Amino acid sequence: MTETLSIVTRDHILRLIRSEYLEMPDLRLTCRQAQRLWELDEHTSAQLLDLLVEVKFLHRKDDGTYSRLTEGAVAAPPLNGSGNEWKRKKQDLIAIINNGASRNGDPVMPAWKDRLSDQDIEDIIAWFQALWPADVYDRWRRANAQPASPKG
Ligand code: HEM
Repeated sequence: MTETLSIVTRDHILRLIRSEYLEMPDLRLTCRQAQRLWELDEHTSAQLLDLLVEVKFLHRKDDGTYSRLTEGAVAAPPLNGSGNEWKRKKQDLIAIINNGASRNGDPVMPAWKDRLSDQDIEDIIAWFQALWPADVYDRWRRANAQPASPKG
């Protein structure tokens, strides 16, 4: 006789939900649809989705659907010189990476100060600035007029 012991933990289901959302960035589900998709009872489905909202992975829209926070609510801007970042002074870039960003009191970008050193942040900025088109970088440098770190 074969016995199959199936222990499905909450963490396992959470990982499953996350990975589906990561694979399908446009995924948008009501609690009921999630319930059917992952074969959950109504209470568990609502509880897990709300937990993922709490940890800022999902966002619950007014129509009751759940989508990824970074896709559905506030998308992280590109850092390749085509967004807003080249308009910011170096100190502002450092401050955003250190402290994160909020909109209407809701955090939209996590703070990195406890995880990245000052040098890490310098390196990250140097890395994404290397992605900027030369004319964008030139404009940024002139606007900043900071002779501290000559380049090239
Ligand atoms: C080490 C990783 C990260 C770095 C270096 C970084 C860097 C930056 C920088 C320099 C800005 C300002 C640029 C601009 O406004 O165009 C910015 C803004 C932003 N980032 Fe990040 N970011 C990181 C991770 C994230 C993550 C994980 C998220 C989302 C969960 C995120 C979401 C945002 C949002 C929504 C803004 C716009 C904030 C606003 O102006 O209201 N970032 N980020």
